[in-house]
Amino acid sequence: MNSEDIRKIVIAGAGIMGASMAQAFALKGFDVTMYNHREITLEKARNRINAAMETLVENGEITGEQGALALNSLKYTASEDCFRDFDLLVESIVENADIKKDFYRTVSGLAKEDAIIATNTSALPITDLQEAVKAPERFLGMHWFNPPNLIPLIEIIRGDKTGDDAVNAVYGISEKIGKKPVVVKKDVKGFAANRIQLAVLREALHLVENDVISIEDLDKVMKYGIGPRYAFLGPFEVVDLGGLDTFHSIGKGLFPDLCNAAEVSPLLSELVDSGHFGVKAQKGFYDYGEGKDAEAIKRRDEILLKLSKILFE
Ligand SMILES: NC(=O)c1ccc[n+]([C@@H]2O[C@H](COP(=O)([O-])OP(=O)(O)OC[C@H]3O[C@@H](n4cnc5c(N)ncnc54)[C@H](O)[C@@H]3O)[C@@H](O)[C@H]2O)c1
Repeated sequence: MNSEDIRKIVIAGAGIMGASMAQAFALKGFDVTMYNHREITLEKARNRINAAMETLVENGEITGEQGALALNSLKYTASEDCFRDFDLLVESIVENADIKKDFYRTVSGLAKEDAIIATNTSALPITDLQEAVKAPERFLGMHWFNPPNLIPLIEIIRGDKTGDDAVNAVYGISEKIGKKPVVVKKDVKGFAANRIQLAVLREALHLVENDVISIEDLDKVMKYGIGPRYAFLGPFEVVDLGGLDTFHSIGKGLFPDLCNAAEVSPLLSELVDSGHFGVKAQKGFYDYGEGKDAEAIKRRDEILLKLSKILFE
């Protein structure tokens, strides 16, 4: 199977990620089925996709007609029958290795011989998940970023048994839907982007917990200082522009002082233990009650759309 042969796509797991991924494929005219084992979740996903499509229309990204066409083409199902006839399945169910493996065993038994199965796992080893798949050479990581319909990057991760054909096919299909794929050659924990993202988060939590800076000001450090540069330059480009000698001497003094904790920070753990999961629970580091949750998502999407126009068009 190469990217030209991929027409029928199943997205499994109608959560935050899956719903938006289905939207991204549907907008490019693919035959997309959104699968979830619970009907109620499918209904919520449908509402989220409708709202996200409206934002695209309101911002002039697509016409109302294009949005309606994509919405009408999307299929929603809680029936495993959809696994009998797909070219590419992107699994985006809960981040739990045992649940994912059970799911692959079921799907592998039903899938066509040449079908490709990809996982959107954030951090589980592809090589381990691959053990539960009937055709491991056609299994790989396809890691999207939230919100998947707007963030261009897709990491394509090889497991030990992943074949070149599957990597090339998923690379090709990612480009076809307007994404910027990269290949992660080794199945390391967290792949590339999450290692960097979590290194930043660990240091940010460390600074706040040690009362060096407030949560609000730390967010400003990223938004007004580091973030704007990283929106269009990679770390190596930043260093080239700033001077390798300067960064070398900063690194010599600073690396030994950076947080290297092996445990998740108490601040984050306490919030999670209290059920403060963020926007989806209307409370995280900030409060999202009284409609602020929907506002936060809309604001993020609108700014991302504007930025994408400047940065990527
Ligand atoms: N949220 C992020 O920012 C993000 C980013 C990249 C990757 N991911 C990964 O994407 C995957 C999904 O994450 P999410 O944030 O969308 O989670 P989520 O909790 O919003 O959605 C997971 C969905 O999977 C469904 N599900 C659970 N078991 C299932 C099963 N056996 N069959 C079908 N559906 C099942 C649940 O009903 C739920 O709707 C995870 O592997 C996660 O690590 C998440």
